[in-house]
Amino acid sequence: MFSSRVPADLGLNRLSAAVQAHCATGRRLIDLTATNPTIVGIHYPTDLLTPLADRGAVTYRPEPFGLIAAREAVVADYARRGISVAVDRVVLTASTSEAYSLLFKLLCAPSGDDVLTPAPSYPLFDHLTKLDGVASRPYALEYHGRWELDELSVDAAWTRQTRGVLAVTPNNPTGSMLSSAELDALSSRCAARAAALIVDEVFADYPLGDVPAFGSSSKALTFRLGGLSKSAGLPQVKLGWIAVNGPDDLVRAALDRLELVCDTYLSVGTPVQVAAPALIERGARVREQIQQRIRTNYDILCAQAVANPSVQVLPVDGGWSAVLRVPSRHSEEDTVVSLLETRDTLVHPGFFFDFPSEAFLVVSLLPESVEFAEGVAHVMELASG
Ligand SMILES: Cc1ncc(COP(=O)(O)O)c(C=O)c1O
Repeated sequence: MFSSRVPADLGLNRLSAAVQAHCATGRRLIDLTATNPTIVGIHYPTDLLTPLADRGAVTYRPEPFGLIAAREAVVADYARRGISVAVDRVVLTASTSEAYSLLFKLLCAPSGDDVLTPAPSYPLFDHLTKLDGVASRPYALEYHGRWELDELSVDAAWTRQTRGVLAVTPNNPTGSMLSSAELDALSSRCAARAAALIVDEVFADYPLGDVPAFGSSSKALTFRLGGLSKSAGLPQVKLGWIAVNGPDDLVRAALDRLELVCDTYLSVGTPVQVAAPALIERGARVREQIQQRIRTNYDILCAQAVANPSVQVLPVDGGWSAVLRVPSRHSEEDTVVSLLETRDTLVHPGFFFDFPSEAFLVVSLLPESVEFAEGVAHVMELASG
């Protein structure tokens, strides 16, 4: 899981060993890496999952792209965000991670084809690409007061076997959103070079500022990814989706081939498809609590940073995480281990997400706010000391 900058047997193993050693002490852990919404004190209504027991799920009606009522519910959910999507261009998946795998199968041959992935970003991409025999080539997001797309690095990473570009907005962990112009720059390149654009919008429901427009029309074959895991705080339910967009001929050809891939697995369970309209609707109650949690914790973080000028909180456009730039007197690894050993607080080092330089720490904005404030105070103490 750790980045290529860290020898496999060094950073990760030392941190894993430190976490294990901490667990063995039995001391309380303030876990500022927690990203599982179901265990951070969010209230899940007791009847939330009853739609999964609907009698309608007793009959199996295999549909490669999913039951139409579930896909219509996804269309309605896009409409809630002001985005127009046609139901025949919506494909259900078991998760966003699975959506990536389906798309890699669709777009890439396992013989040297590659996709471009942002850095810093979500470490799972390394595994997802490798498991499908696809090479992953990083392009850079650079921090200049905001995280900007480095277009030169996109061009430098591009090869004759590049079949797709992944964009994550809001990005995990930088919390940055691509501007309309940046998305357009990626889309234009993909259109000109016969590649597809994959836009991961799983955190789209968690903006902390203005949301840049990403139009319903696109020059390139485009796949937008979303799912209940983040939009309704329901990672255990296993429902994701892909909305396909772009020039009609490319969309039609892609859907034809994608149908075969989906039909081969038929991985989305009938109960979750039957329940999808109700789950999407009821999920709003969970989402609103998570939105509130994120805002409260981000405010706590910024307030504590004001009192500790040696720590800088990088601005967050949206998502569930925030980045702190801390003094680089010590390595990220030493800082993280020291926080754990001396203050029972766990954060992620920047190198976990391929930050280009040190010293950055990444905190989840999901933990319960009292605990979050305590953990952040420990980070500030250590970083300022
Ligand atoms: C940016 C991003 N995309 C996708 C996923 C995976 O989502 P899912 O649970 O739908 O597979 C994650 C999980 O944290 C994520 O951070």
